[in-house]
Amino acid sequence: SERTLVLVKPDGVSRGLVGEVISRIERKGLKLVALELRNVERSVAEQHYAEHAERSFFGDLLDFITSGPVLAAVVEGPRAVTAFRQLAGGTDPVEKATPGTIRGDFGLEVQYNLVHGSDSTESAEREIKIWFPEL
Ligand code: GTP
Ligand code: MG
Repeated sequence: SERTLVLVKPDGVSRGLVGEVISRIERKGLKLVALELRNVERSVAEQHYAEHAERSFFGDLLDFITSGPVLAAVVEGPRAVTAFRQLAGGTDPVEKATPGTIRGDFGLEVQYNLVHGSDSTESAEREIKIWFPEL
């Protein structure tokens, strides 16, 4: 079994899609290990998205992710990292995510793509330490 870090980003929370995302996680058979609605400190957002620090959209990304509450969750199950990335769909909700995925069903713009899921088990371990240091 494996763990992954999932976020429902501020757009997903403000659009009332928290229940939808949790429902899809549960229906897939994945387990919720930790779940918390919280406001995001800029320093937490910077650590979380450190790999994108040099990208042109980094400032916009930090502004966005700190613009309102996010739902942070640790999700567990067999191949949980890949399983959730599949539920989420590709980064661009129109060009990459297909209908049937969270982003494909509910998203239109790359920045407002509703959810985050760790992209590897190493990333998951790093991100869970940032969001849930007590775990
Ligand atoms: P995350 O699960 O959020 O990490 O998304 P991802 O792994 O599918 O994509 P990636 O890590 O490459 O990018 C992180 C986030 O930055 C994306 O989810 C988008 O919200 C945002 N992002 C990526 N590319 C762009 C871009 O070209 N423009 C803008 N404005 N945002 C972008
Ligand atoms: Mg990513």
